Amino acid sequence: MNILLTGGCGFIGSHLAERLLAEGHAVTCIDNFLTGSRANAEILGRFPAFRLIEQDVCEPLRERVDCDWIFHLASPASPVHYRRFAVETLLTNSQGTYRMLETARQQRARFLVASTSESYGDPDIHPQREDYWGHVNPVGERSCYDESKRFSEAITMEYWRTHGTDVRVMRFFNTYGPRMQRDDGRIVPNMIGQALLGKPLTVYGDGMQTRSFCYVSDLVDGIIRAMWCEEAKAEVINLGNPDEFTVMEFVETLKRLLEKPLEVIYKPLPSDDPRRRKPDIGKARRLLGWEPTIKLEEGLHRTMKWFEETMGEAAS
Ligand SMILES: NC(=O)c1ccc[n+]([C@@H]2O[C@H](COP(=O)([O-])OP(=O)(O)OC[C@H]3O[C@@H](n4cnc5c(N)ncnc54)[C@H](O)[C@@H]3O)[C@@H](O)[C@H]2O)c1
Repeated sequence: MNILLTGGCGFIGSHLAERLLAEGHAVTCIDNFLTGSRANAEILGRFPAFRLIEQDVCEPLRERVDCDWIFHLASPASPVHYRRFAVETLLTNSQGTYRMLETARQQRARFLVASTSESYGDPDIHPQREDYWGHVNPVGERSCYDESKRFSEAITMEYWRTHGTDVRVMRFFNTYGPRMQRDDGRIVPNMIGQALLGKPLTVYGDGMQTRSFCYVSDLVDGIIRAMWCEEAKAEVINLGNPDEFTVMEFVETLKRLLEKPLEVIYKPLPSDDPRRRKPDIGKARRLLGWEPTIKLEEGLHRTMKWFEETMGEAAS
């Protein structure tokens, strides 16, 4: 297949691109390196069928890219990044998604958009199923992300209704693994970085809020299955790991893996921080035959190894 992948030099995008290239597809990535990494582009550059177009997805495509499939992943994803680039986030998920949908419509390409569990906001039902409409603060600190993702979902579904474009909306839940940025503010890189540097781990609130953690290779597997799946057309599908852990349980897992005591310091909970997050993945199981296979300990072990290698001197 000829594939257009936006955000291909970011954390999830680079793993997805690598897997698609390894499977023999030709992959053109569009990325403006707002939050992506040149090191990821270098890894992908080893594949002859990889091409990079460095540009903002909000702008018209600088050159024509013939494609059968479009994976639209471009968007800042971590709270630190989308707060720093709030307006860019709003535009990328609105104007950028519109541009990519237009490309899909013109080329009759299949289109998959990366949405997020944040579309559910601070949910008042648990676990979250795709038919739950969410509990979102439309003007809060996170709204640049969650409201723009909700717009991105809405315009994607409208391209199906209005133009018959072959679309699917994937709501990713918290994903982790190698190539996350250490300073992106999310719990996994935050705590691994602190633990490896011998610093106290920061827990926000009382640590009893829950999170689910999906290892990146599991997520990539679900994304690719969804793109192949005819029945996924015009569907909204959760992808995440339904194993739920409190933040304190996560800390305990890290302690076990590192085999050393870790000090914890507590800080106030950021505003609009969700108390519970857990995907209902019944639909992904049914339509895609998908479920995560990597347990938290194993995924954390692999991620920690990568952080140790890349943090080099600082971690030793
Ligand atoms: N990581 C997660 O846990 C998670 C959870 C839910 C949803 N998602 C979604 O998955 C996608 C990928 O997330 P990630 O964690 O890999 O983030 P990331 O920040 O590592 O990657 C995003 C990539 O998009 C690029 N980008 C951003 N704005 C752009 C623009 N206007 N034009 C061109 N390129 C642009 C960045 O440079 C970066 O390479 C995002 O859409 C995100 O919202 C991620």
